[in-house]
Formats: sequence, C-alpha cells, structure tokens
Amino acid sequence: MVAPAMNVRMWTHAATQANLATLRERGVHFVGPNEGDMACGEFGPGRMAEPDEIADAVSDFFEDSAPLSGRRALVTSGPTHEPIDPVRYIANRSSGRQGHAIAAALARRGALTTLVSGPTHLPDPAGVQTIHVETARDMLAACESALPADIAVCAAAVADWRVASQANEKLKKNGSSVPTLEMAENPDILATLSATANTRPGLVIGFGAETENVIAHAKAKRERKGCDWILANDVSPETGTFGGADNTIHLLSAAGVENWPTMSKVDVANRLAERITKHLGAAE
Ligand code: C5P
Repeated sequence: MVAPAMNVRMWTHAATQANLATLRERGVHFVGPNEGDMACGEFGPGRMAEPDEIADAVSDFFEDSAPLSGRRALVTSGPTHEPIDPVRYIANRSSGRQGHAIAAALARRGALTTLVSGPTHLPDPAGVQTIHVETARDMLAACESALPADIAVCAAAVADWRVASQANEKLKKNGSSVPTLEMAENPDILATLSATANTRPGLVIGFGAETENVIAHAKAKRERKGCDWILANDVSPETGTFGGADNTIHLLSAAGVENWPTMSKVDVANRLAERITKHLGAAE
C-alpha cells in the first residue's frame, strides 16, 4: 500500500501515471493523493492523504480483503523449456501473464500462494512465493513439494513432449544429415494433481486453450484430467489471446458453463479469485 505525496505536475505527468498503472496491475493499493494547497504554493492533486485516512485504509484492507486467509494456493504459469542439448530447447509462446495475474489475485485476497513458473520475462508477483523451473518434470516436482494446498490453478503451457535423451554436448552440423529428435511424453501436471491420493487440493482448476469447438473439447478435457473446473478459451491466432492482454473465458464445472465477457487477463484473475472465494465459502 502506498500513500503518495508529490507536486501536482509530477503527479499528473504521463510517466508517473504509466508507472502507477503498472503498480496497480501488480496489485499495489494507493491511498490518496488528495487535492489541495501544496507546500510549493501550487494547487491540485498530489497532497499526501491525512494520517487518519491512511490508517483507516490499512485497517479496512486487512479486514475486508483477505477472504482467502488461511487457505493455501498453488498456481503454475508460463511455458516450459525442454532441452535438446546444452544450448537449445523446445518452447512455446506462453507469456505467463494469466498465471502470474492469478497468483497475485489469490495472494491479494490473503491466500498463502506458491507460484511455480516456467521461464518468463515477468517480475515475481508481490506477496507470492515464486519457484522458477524450466522443464515439465521440474514443474511437477515443485508442485508436489508445494502440497498440501486448498486450491490449485494450472495455467502453465506445459510442453506435452520432451526430447527423450538430451545431448550432453552441443549438437554439431556434419554436412550430410540432420538430427532426428526422438520425443518422450511429459507428465500431465493438472491430471497428476487431480489424481493425487491423500493431498489432492480441494479445488483443482485447469485451462483449456482451444482453436475450435471450444466448449466441447473443454468438457472432454475436464473429464479426462479429473479436475473440477476448466477455464476454456479460444486461442485461434486471430483472437490474439496467446501473449496478448485480453482473454474470453468459459468456466466449465459440474454445474454447467458460465460465459464471461472478454476482459483483461488481470480482470480474469480477479474474477476467478472471486469465484474461488465464493465457492469455498459456499462449501463450508
Ligand atoms: O492438454 P492441454 O495441454 O490442452 O491441457 C491444458 C491444461 O492442462 C492446462 O491447465 C495446463 O496447465 C495443464 N497441463 C499440465 N501438464 C501438461 C499439459 C497440460 O498441467 N503436461
């Protein structure tokens, strides 16, 4: 939580406002600034909020905004990198934005949150314990070591296959033939967490990125993987979802399908965190 105080022209400057937008997106809360006379003789927004206002905002925050306190959440995010040799790997286009935003939204609501992230360019979300991994197998091991959890959200774009035997030395061109990569199947983290015997999280949520027949494929995926909810989304290239800022979600559960309007990935994260809060509250 930040209570900014600065000159009106500094506060309204485009660079300050852009930085504030980034901080809000990362879940930082602001108290003020207020509008009024400034020490420098100018007038406008930039005055620090009164100490009583700041104290009230802090106590309201801790009273109202931690409905998930006492809950443990596990979130996967980003791509995985599957090595071919010491310098090359197989990867995918996942940015990690959706998974990171979900971890931040759960942590903001008080959940003790572990984020297991493949390689991304994103900063670790505030208030979240972030474990960095590269491969699908490392991601599974990190997830299993983070159990028990009440909530698991698998948002990572895990590589389905890895190279069966990684070369210890950089593969060299030999002028006559190209290498053939033999592939092996990676563990399915969502399915494994859903089937965990004693420590299965009470609510396991996966994503179903589809390019056609989104709902039908997502329904089949929910059953096949044994998870509770699937957030299905259309990732056809024309939607710009992969790597983009927005997402159009259909939430599939045993109760049916909820169609959410198109919204930013941060808004999807907040809406999901609210749905989870409501679900856990109703289940008590
Ligand atoms: O099978 P598909 O990749 O479409 O399933 C997507 C869902 O399964 C996502 O929630 C993703 O995080 C999860 N998944 C996983 N481990 C894999 C493959 C997918 O956790 N190896």
